[in-house]
Amino acid sequence: MASSPLRRLPLGTRLGLSALALVTLAGLWASATHLRHHHSAKDGRAGMSLEDLTASYHGIDSPAPLVDSLAGGHPTDLLPEERALLLDWLNGDQLSAGYDNPDLGDMTPAELIDAACLPCHARGAPATLADNIGDRVPLEYWDDIERIAFSRVVAPVPAEIMITSAHTHALSMSMLALVIGAIFHFTRWSRPLRGFLSGLCGLALLVDFACWVLSRETAELVIVLAASGAAYGLSLAAMLILIMADLWLAQADQP
Ligand code: HEC
Repeated sequence: MASSPLRRLPLGTRLGLSALALVTLAGLWASATHLRHHHSAKDGRAGMSLEDLTASYHGIDSPAPLVDSLAGGHPTDLLPEERALLLDWLNGDQLSAGYDNPDLGDMTPAELIDAACLPCHARGAPATLADNIGDRVPLEYWDDIERIAFSRVVAPVPAEIMITSAHTHALSMSMLALVIGAIFHFTRWSRPLRGFLSGLCGLALLVDFACWVLSRETAELVIVLAASGAAYGLSLAAMLILIMADLWLAQADQP
């Protein structure tokens, strides 16, 4: 193991560097938490998912499964006027209010769905009839309906906001990686490990920013964006922890 110049620094310097490393680690944790909060509602569903990131960086445009299915002629034995009633209701803007509103026609959408769909789409409906569809896509309550009744169109973050965000992030994230990578270079850890972590950190950041721009066109790149962002954060955190270890662990060949 190489000798460590960091371990020989004055006590005050080592304390100061360790404190800064801890603050930076806390900052990385805060950024990850902020990202989760910032993005998790983007797709209109709770929790952070790849879809949230896709919504932010690429935008999403997914039609409502309920409308798709009815407009596509499912179920085949639905009367045309019943299909029209349901589609009018679904394409209108009174979805929740209209669901059991008796003023819309002979039957409310809720009653019509009960009669026409629940034989198959009720929880525990006879499995032989419909492939357990009632358990996978139940249509018994408004909560069931609500999940598949809305189309979702989310525009990506506007270009100006992306540039505003890039002007702080590109500079601060690269500076951070540069400083930490440089300090990490003087630690006792093996050359391959030092090369791997600082190389990974820099390349991940480049790929992350490239995907920022490119995923506006290509939705598939959002997963590369997420992976490279995580690789950047984790390699930075690993370097910080290894720097702190190097500052304090005793060394055999200390003069
Ligand atoms: C005879 C049984 C039956 C009836 C009646 C029926 N469905 Fe289905 N439904 C299915 C089956 C089986 C599937 C899954 C296979 C498929 O997509 O065709 C399905 C799929 C669907 C899906 C797609 C779910 C998804 O996310 O892929 C929707 C939406 C749907 N049904 C809505 C309705 C509505 C609304 C009605 C009443 C107007 C209805 N179904 C009546 C059997 C039925």
